Amino acid sequence: MTWNLKMLIKRKYLIINIILVAMMVVYFWLGYMLIEEPTNFIHEQFDNKYNFFPECPELLPPQNITNEQNWLPVDTEDMLFVFSAYYDEIDGKPYVRLIGLGEDGFKIFCYLWFRQTHPKRMFLKITRGTSILTADGSSKRYQEIYLLCPLPNDVVPYAVSIVTTKCQEPLNSLPVKPWMQQVDIKRNFTVCVSPLNMNYSRAYEIVEWLELNIILGADYFLIYNYSSAFNIRKVMKIYSDRGLVEVIQWPLPMHVDTWPPSDKNPEVTYFGQIAALNDCLYRSRPYTKFLINVDIDEFIIPRSNRSYKWMDMFNILPEASGYIIRQICFRKDWPDYRGVDNKSLVSDSYLNDIDKYSLVTLKKLQRERGILPDGYRSKYIVKPNDAVTIRVHDVWQYRKHQHSHVVDPSVGLLHHYRNWFKPHEGTRVLDTRMLQYQDELVHQIHAIWSQLEGVPLDLHTVDMQL
Ligand SMILES: *[C@@H]1O[C@H](CO)[C@@H](O)[C@H](O)[C@H]1NC(C)=O
Ligand SMILES: *[C@@H]1O[C@H](CO)[C@@H](O)[C@H](O)[C@H]1NC(C)=O
Ligand SMILES: *[C@@H]1O[C@H](CO)[C@@H](O)[C@H](O)[C@H]1NC(C)=O
Ligand SMILES: *[C@@H]1O[C@H](CO)[C@@H](O)[C@H](O)[C@H]1NC(C)=O
Ligand SMILES: *[C@@H]1O[C@H](CO)[C@@H](O)[C@H](O)[C@H]1NC(C)=O
Ligand SMILES: *[C@@H]1O[C@H](CO)[C@@H](O)[C@H](O)[C@H]1NC(C)=O
Repeated sequence: MTWNLKMLIKRKYLIINIILVAMMVVYFWLGYMLIEEPTNFIHEQFDNKYNFFPECPELLPPQNITNEQNWLPVDTEDMLFVFSAYYDEIDGKPYVRLIGLGEDGFKIFCYLWFRQTHPKRMFLKITRGTSILTADGSSKRYQEIYLLCPLPNDVVPYAVSIVTTKCQEPLNSLPVKPWMQQVDIKRNFTVCVSPLNMNYSRAYEIVEWLELNIILGADYFLIYNYSSAFNIRKVMKIYSDRGLVEVIQWPLPMHVDTWPPSDKNPEVTYFGQIAALNDCLYRSRPYTKFLINVDIDEFIIPRSNRSYKWMDMFNILPEASGYIIRQICFRKDWPDYRGVDNKSLVSDSYLNDIDKYSLVTLKKLQRERGILPDGYRSKYIVKPNDAVTIRVHDVWQYRKHQHSHVVDPSVGLLHHYRNWFKPHEGTRVLDTRMLQYQDELVHQIHAIWSQLEGVPLDLHTVDMQL
């Protein structure tokens, strides 16, 4: 067969046509991939049996995911650490939200580990995550941050790992705690306690604080623990056995404040308090109607006539997502109050226990005149489902258009018991509101300490203000 010019030209067209068709196929396939993978999901197959994840063949699913409370590294330079992971939804879209401490502006990848039971299989999805600062602009090396990993649908992965380069062997794997909109939430008030620190050992103080909060209506406490002494462990045991207290270990991996101050500068603000508060927010969210943030020298006290418990305030308060409580300061550096004729205002039969257990709320009945404005040392009660981020003195961000209500001082105040170390300063105002709790408080505290035979009230830790 001989080729003439015509046939040659025809064949050329055929080849060009084939190339064109092939290019179109590739083009549409690419387009299809882009449409199908809008949220940066890089790959999704993982078959445990063959350890097959084509893009990163070295990766193996994490085996023993425990609930152990630890700060885990993301990178080998110690620039980012993660503590916990929660399922969350933002504008109806599913995410895993992690509580972290680190430097800002990280490029991160999330390994989302899924488990399927029928048939038994593992899946891995890798997605690009984002990090968001939650702190209020401190200059410390580590800031409190959220890491957000978008999810393909509302199926909750059993674990998540954060890495900085794709296919990197992860240095962390955290269980993802689920969340569901629940109708029947059991607890009314969960109280969050910022990390105990400096080898905290004032057992008498925390017992008074726990008991008064229980009287006021607290039904659960999440107590973060960086460092505290053995007597505190004994106290915590009693309350956790009663199902009231959960201690969350908080072993920060960076330099923190010390007393006396050391030559190493603290690398994080006040023991990562904001990260602890936000962990508490997401940890307690499925279980409680209200979350309360106060320190162990503060109490939210209802102030209107005939109100005794927190719930009584809600008969008066308007509907809101958060309630900011303004502070009054009871000075520990002022002497215990004695009545005009040296007669105690508390019942004589309680004086012994008040002295023995050093009950500050019944000893210190004089406060400073001023009520601080909201935002200044105020604390708050918030509905955890409505908040995205909480801070020390207020709610930083709500989910929708919710707002905080500033509680009127005639309805509720934050009683702060504080040593100002300057007894001659300030105008003293007698404030006997606490006396309404004396019967119940002294009775409860007496009962608890009779179970704590031999446990020291204090080991003389420093009382200092950072
Ligand atoms: C997993 O568990 C094994 C055995 O219990 C232990 O030796 C290993 O250190 C654990 N690995 C991790 C990453 O926790
Ligand atoms: C929560 O508050 C409601 C309304 O006051 C009350 O009926 C209920 O017993 C409280 N729940 C707990 C666990 O205290
Ligand atoms: C904490 O306090 C106890 C009791 O005073 C002491 O034995 C212990 O060494 C302290 N721990 C630290 C880390 O300072
Ligand atoms: C708090 O942390 C310290 C330091 O790790 C530890 O010694 C102590 O037992 C912990 N206390 C409680 C109540 O878990
Ligand atoms: C609360 O009680 C005090 C003293 O009994 C009274 O003077 C005051 O008017 C009462 N306030 C309200 C709002 O009922
Ligand atoms: C008042 O009581 C204190 C302590 O009990 C005592 O030291 C003081 O002498 C008493 N003062 C008067 C005027 O009775």
